[in-house]
Amino acid sequence: MDQQMMYAELTLPKDSGPESSSPSSLPRDVCQGSPWHQFALKLSCAGIILLVLVVTGLSLSVASLLQKPSIGKCSVDIQQNRTKTTERPDLLNCPIYWKQVQEKCLLFSHTVNPWNNSLADCSTKESSLLLIQDKDELTRTQNLIHDKAISFWIGLNFSLSEKNWKWINGSFLSSNDLKITGDAKENSCVYISQTSVYSEYCSTEMKWICQKELTLVRNKVSPDSWL
Ligand SMILES: *[C@@H]1O[C@H](CO)[C@@H](O)[C@H](O)[C@H]1NC(C)=O
Ligand SMILES: *[C@@H]1O[C@H](CO)[C@@H](O)[C@H](O)[C@H]1NC(C)=O
Ligand SMILES: *[C@@H]1O[C@H](CO)[C@@H](O)[C@H](O)[C@H]1NC(C)=O
Ligand SMILES: *[C@@H]1O[C@H](CO)[C@@H](O)[C@H](O)[C@H]1NC(C)=O
Repeated sequence: MDQQMMYAELTLPKDSGPESSSPSSLPRDVCQGSPWHQFALKLSCAGIILLVLVVTGLSLSVASLLQKPSIGKCSVDIQQNRTKTTERPDLLNCPIYWKQVQEKCLLFSHTVNPWNNSLADCSTKESSLLLIQDKDELTRTQNLIHDKAISFWIGLNFSLSEKNWKWINGSFLSSNDLKITGDAKENSCVYISQTSVYSEYCSTEMKWICQKELTLVRNKVSPDSWL
């Protein structure tokens, strides 16, 4: 008897499985209570569906709002890249604090250093100590020096082995370019003042001038300037 009862109980759910597994059967039964009850149920069902739709719609629009800025930013990036490649070459400017003289950007240091440290400082700024092509360039550079008492190292020193003044680009000074006041001897480096060009011990501490070619500046600086 007990075993039969248990069997019956166990099999009951199995038998009624297909009926109860259809979810519509239960509400249908309940909905048959009264027309009002049925109407109320339908209304609340409609309400729930509406609510689900509204929530879905809201979350979708929020999601699209969150995505829009990044899409916009992306298109701005593309525009900037286009601008970079098409328009940027016309905008030749020296970096901030650098002064433009013809095709060069010059940086006048505020601190003092021996010549070798000045040379090293310009390298760290992706530039070189000033090279002066001719008297015109010398005059244009000197016009930017507003204090008679201040002097600046340039990229010219004495090569003992070659017994000649040598620019840091490897060329020798041609005789008529600059008139250097002072000795041409071992450990001599060249500085300029507002009015003159002098030779001095390289270990002397002075201000200095770094230069960048403007064409190099164009390639070097344009990507940064957009950041
Ligand atoms: C713009 O160019 C930079 C490098 O110049 C690149 O890293 C970036 O992905 C580019 N942006 C777009 C949107 O193409
Ligand atoms: C410059 O020379 C001084 C003295 O000879 C030395 O101590 C210093 O390290 C040198 N600087 C560089 C950048 O080589
Ligand atoms: C090195 O610089 C000097 C001074 O500006 C210039 O006269 C010379 O032509 C340059 N040499 C090279 C190889 O660029
Ligand atoms: C002169 O400059 C050259 C680089 O052009 C450098 O190797 C050399 O050490 C310098 N001489 C002195 C005395 O600083």
